[in-house]
Amino acid sequence: MPSIQLRTPIPGPRSQELAKRRIAAVPRGIYLGTPMYVARAEGAILEDVDGNRFLDFAGGIGCLNVGHRAPRVVAAIHEQVDRHMHTCFQVSPYESYVALAEKLNQLTPGKFAKKTFFVNSGAEAVENAIKIARAYTGRPSVICFEDAFHGRTFMAMSLTSKTHPYKAGFEPFPGDVYRVPFAYCYRCAFSLTYPSCEVHCARHLEDVFRRVVAAESVAAVIVEPVLGEGGFIVPPQEYFGILAEICRHHNILLIADEVQTGFGRTGALFASERYGIEPDILVTAKSLGGGLPLAGITGRAEIMDAPGSGALGGTFGGNPVACAAALAVIEEFERGKLSDRANALGERFHQRARSWQSRWPIIGDVRGLGGMQAIELVRESREPAEEETKQVIKLCYEHGLLVLSAGSYGNVIRMLMPLSMTDEQLEEGLAVLEKALQSVCEKSHHIAAQPA
Ligand SMILES: Cc1ncc(COP(=O)(O)O)c(C=O)c1O
Repeated sequence: MPSIQLRTPIPGPRSQELAKRRIAAVPRGIYLGTPMYVARAEGAILEDVDGNRFLDFAGGIGCLNVGHRAPRVVAAIHEQVDRHMHTCFQVSPYESYVALAEKLNQLTPGKFAKKTFFVNSGAEAVENAIKIARAYTGRPSVICFEDAFHGRTFMAMSLTSKTHPYKAGFEPFPGDVYRVPFAYCYRCAFSLTYPSCEVHCARHLEDVFRRVVAAESVAAVIVEPVLGEGGFIVPPQEYFGILAEICRHHNILLIADEVQTGFGRTGALFASERYGIEPDILVTAKSLGGGLPLAGITGRAEIMDAPGSGALGGTFGGNPVACAAALAVIEEFERGKLSDRANALGERFHQRARSWQSRWPIIGDVRGLGGMQAIELVRESREPAEEETKQVIKLCYEHGLLVLSAGSYGNVIRMLMPLSMTDEQLEEGLAVLEKALQSVCEKSHHIAAQPA
């Protein structure tokens, strides 16, 4: 499925039948993004059970940076399936787990000795990072950020910011979690402006230690280098340097949640590299497995060895098929220059989005790092345009393009396309997005569309 002529999908009998079965069999808590049911996928294209084809700007929520069914990944999976599929690494270990741990120890930022282990999901990796930080420091508290997303298990929910639909009704959450404002320059919590603010939001942490929680009680600060679900919020370049220095000063561990930013998305293998920081613990998932469920926790060797034998692990963590896929993903990055591709795709998107911004005031902010790009949609006085965002995404779907929203206010459209996407595919997708934005702008009575 190399190229695509985007067309309006026509729901056929098979997807309609599946929709009925889904409603009867699956709880409504499992959100329904689109009504299509996938039959096949390749590169940046999905085909549904009725033969409709879609261009994918969502990548299974950022899990397919190497593309759907990347040939090297598929071959590695087949090869592993023909040998063995599951033994449980803690019962009968195997080489691919160790080799992948070695690779991540080598590739994550920092030249110090590191160790890595594997679990099944981003949330599980976050949980484990906190367990290890508490075991190593002997301290209880964790600092996290407004608009952060770390997953749906209990500790991960506690660290997550957005209330609906993620947290409401599931209380109480694990305690000793303290939330501070992030570097969301477009909606600065301190009503300051960069650069004259001198990155006050990072320095504010010192104030938190006086007014909220004592520094000597804090085990870790956990942070996404660029907020993912929170709306692709990109801090100023010096932000993480300041944060890391404050953590170091108080012997607090810095945990980078690179579940969404990792594996080339921001134009480097890890976004931490873009900020020149070396986190004590770095959490990966999503695109690590090339489409299979796998997550990693990598950290300084002495920190990772704090929990005793048997204190970490899980039945399926680091499954051999997933490890084989991940080794192929890394090979793909080493050969394919996919991080450079992220920068090229991101740059094209950014330029196009800036031109939209100059035409339509609904585009309040255009931001991103490498291929992790987004637009924030607003009405007057930056009021979040959530309804309009939904309309744009629906219109895109109706013209064969899959895109995702993000943000605490649901008013951000984010780019998570496979980095293997061709320029032609990108242009085709951007043309659809442009038409959808134009149509919503022209219809909206809040916004008078300006001539181009
Ligand atoms: C930054 C971040 N951390 C953690 C998670 C949770 O990962 P998972 O859905 O694999 O549990 C996500 C998922 O979107 C994420 O974006």
